[in-house]
Amino acid sequence: MKSNKIIIKTSEQIDGIRAASQLVATFLDKVLPPFVKAGIKTIDIDNLATEFCASNNCSPSFKDVTGYFHSTCTAVNNEVVHAIPGNRVLLDGDIIKVDFGVTKNGYIGDATRTFMIGDVNPKVKKLVEATKYALELACEVAKPGNRIGDIGFVIQKHVEKQGFSVVREYVGHGVGIELHEAPSVPHYGNRRTGIELVPGMVIAIEPMINMGTWKTKVLDDGWTVVTMDGKWSCQFEDTVAITENGSDILTRI
Ligand code: CO
Repeated sequence: MKSNKIIIKTSEQIDGIRAASQLVATFLDKVLPPFVKAGIKTIDIDNLATEFCASNNCSPSFKDVTGYFHSTCTAVNNEVVHAIPGNRVLLDGDIIKVDFGVTKNGYIGDATRTFMIGDVNPKVKKLVEATKYALELACEVAKPGNRIGDIGFVIQKHVEKQGFSVVREYVGHGVGIELHEAPSVPHYGNRRTGIELVPGMVIAIEPMINMGTWKTKVLDDGWTVVTMDGKWSCQFEDTVAITENGSDILTRI
């Protein structure tokens, strides 16, 4: 994070962030789903994202991160985040989290979807559904007058009730002008705590929810985060603008 100052966006800036976010959503929700199946490699997904940017006159935001050379992060099963695309082949029963950011005219949108490959274990399906619904709950409370802690509270409450856990070491963030801006957006916490949400804030809410312990570790490649116990992890992310009367989920078509 370059600065601790929260950037309150103008409506022109939000329009720019929306345009970038719509490209992210188009890729993750339209272009990618028919392509993600058993037998493809994670690098195939990344190549598709790079081509998508080239043909849509935008650039992959993650390539601007020092030391990272891919358009997406592709975390499979027990991998949590920041997994580097490569020769890993997706198998029936796997889940993959595809995280993608796009920069268009200087504005950035950021989102993640989890895809289930073929027949997944019912308990894994439950994890995926709980994570997705937790993000919906979070978007509902992301509105003026509420606080950052209200977001984490609803996520944590929903997933812990089902026996899952919330990753602590990685959190959501402001987004739009830079990929990672202030404020930090924890996916756990207490009601009525933290900074107040005001119109013009744009935040990426990206709960990482684990089947077992919330603890994680980084692999020797220096990037890939995995769960400490090897159990699986799920993530959904959206770029959300706080408006006068609620919120606008920019990374939804
Ligand atoms: Co993000």
